[in-house]
Amino acid sequence: MLVSDVPALRDYWYPIAYEGEVSPEPRSFRMFGEQYVVWRPAEGAAPHASLDECPHRSSRLSQGWVADGCIVCPYHGWRFDGDGACVEIPANDPDLPVPSRARVQSVAVTERYGLVWACVGEPSNDLPYLPEAEAEDYVLIHELMEEWSASAPRIIDNALDVSHVAWVHKDSVGSAANPRLSDFTVEREGYVLRFSVSYVAAVNEQQKQNLGITSDLTRRTTHAELVQPLIFRGVLEYEENGLRHVLYKTATPVDDGTTLFCQFIARSDRPSPEIREQIAEVDRIVQSEDKRLLEAVNPDFPIDVTSELHTRSDRMTLEYRRVLGDLAATGGAS
Ligand code: FES
Ligand SMILES: [Fe+2]
Repeated sequence: MLVSDVPALRDYWYPIAYEGEVSPEPRSFRMFGEQYVVWRPAEGAAPHASLDECPHRSSRLSQGWVADGCIVCPYHGWRFDGDGACVEIPANDPDLPVPSRARVQSVAVTERYGLVWACVGEPSNDLPYLPEAEAEDYVLIHELMEEWSASAPRIIDNALDVSHVAWVHKDSVGSAANPRLSDFTVEREGYVLRFSVSYVAAVNEQQKQNLGITSDLTRRTTHAELVQPLIFRGVLEYEENGLRHVLYKTATPVDDGTTLFCQFIARSDRPSPEIREQIAEVDRIVQSEDKRLLEAVNPDFPIDVTSELHTRSDRMTLEYRRVLGDLAATGGAS
């Protein structure tokens, strides 16, 4: 299954940029193989987004600019408001009405958790609710947003797949000598999955400082949740000191084989800015280990559960295949 095979995936919200990256300077982004443009009518105002193609002669609106709260096409200066309606055609007599068909298809865009989110389909699903990302007793840390040459379901599948940690991350946070997972059960509610599993993680010198843990190995529990089909939340809880490191991973489909991967965390220990940077650094190293592996994997994600081998420790990723299979079959109806 490729993301373009499941139109229901278009009806969810996905991050496209950090809030501070969107300004009155038009900025292009791609989702589901199409190019869009996002811009603010004024500094600090709520953003607008639309297809990045002028309905007149197809030029890229992202090459234009913003004037009087409208986006101006760079080719013949047509102006479009935040709803996508053309409000001015400078070459025509101003008394001549603007044709009603002169409009560019706008898309839903909003801001939350320090990110700009877009929905290019029918925005029928809520924005994902990520409780710790806005809780007062946690601190939110943005770690990375980058394009990977991997498909979005492969990235989320990897996040749900705890048994890879001991191997893919054996040089960072995994312990290849301790690959065994605790027992766990997977709960499913519609398209949401939840499970909790514990395992042994390695603690290197930098992690000792970041986590406030002194031993070389520690037992941690991941309370994992598939919040939406391409949005993961994982609460990593350390047995030794009760610290909660909440990982959020979002996979914005750029096209079938490319994904804008975004990771941010919420920490219960409210670390100092210096430690925050060290924490992010470790997580970026861990993610680069996943990236290297995932970019070499076929982007076509198997939703026929008979086509691969599944064992007892694969129950969460087996269920993820069923979730995406059901989404493909039902079109997202619950
Ligand atoms: S192509 Fe945009 S105004 Fe002509
Ligand atoms: Fe990983």
